[in-house]
Amino acid sequence: MIDPCQPVPSLGDSLDAAAALLRGAGRIAVLSGAGISAESGIPTFRDALTGLWARFDAGDLATPEAFERDPALVWGWYEWRRMKVLQSQPNPGHLALARLAARGPQVTVITQNVDDLHERAGSREVHHLHGSLHAPRCFECGRSHGFGPQIPDEPEGGRRLAPPACDHCGGPLRPGVVWFGEMLPEDAWRAATEAIAHCEVMITIGTSGLVFPAAGLPGLAAGRGKPVIQINPTATEHDDCARVALRARAGEALPALLERLG
Ligand code: APR
Repeated sequence: MIDPCQPVPSLGDSLDAAAALLRGAGRIAVLSGAGISAESGIPTFRDALTGLWARFDAGDLATPEAFERDPALVWGWYEWRRMKVLQSQPNPGHLALARLAARGPQVTVITQNVDDLHERAGSREVHHLHGSLHAPRCFECGRSHGFGPQIPDEPEGGRRLAPPACDHCGGPLRPGVVWFGEMLPEDAWRAATEAIAHCEVMITIGTSGLVFPAAGLPGLAAGRGKPVIQINPTATEHDDCARVALRARAGEALPALLERLG
């Protein structure tokens, strides 16, 4: 819990405090949000002006009803987002998180992100609570499909693009992401709660903490007496449960933490 009546510690002091919590930890649970991919050029959701939801309406694009209403608009939007991911690279924040695991502790990454930048950075244990842009499935029969290696050619977001047909039943493919109103994948949620139950320390990175049930995970950890380290340039809903707040970008704070851990 960050005491609002206390002077805000310097970033250096907060980094020292966070490193002291991580040093010697055998199991670390990480919750990541769109903020960790921001420095790779992937728009977050709620940043005013640049955020995805500032320019598009989630209700028009990220629900099963939106897809039934206009499959080409929804598929085109997600293909634009997938193209941005394929044209992006993991940033120093993703890479430092992968290096943290290489030092020995079990680092379980629970991400709300639908990109594959954690995996491409080398993180081995990644669970996608909100699905993945890279795992389309049939809207009718649910059969999983894949993508070829090519990058979709649509440079602008929002252009309509008819979804491909399922090779089993002919129904339209849909993005493999969790839409508003849909249940989270059971296996990812189970892995997340397991990681919280067994971790010694939790780090929450680049999330506004607004979308449940994912947003409830840091509070769950804190409620079980696990120290929570938050990395975010701004205050969030997780301030109340964070033991240490690193008011910094992920690409700055995570490498600095690794440096302190030696
Ligand atoms: N480093 C760390 N944090 C950052 C950075 C950065 N470089 N840049 C921005 N942030 C922070 C912002 O301050 C904000 O708190 O990342 C957070 C992004 O918040 P949101 O845009 O709300 O994204 P997120 O929390 O991941 O959203 C959760 O909501 O719409 C749904 O399914 C969607 O998974 C998403 C979920």
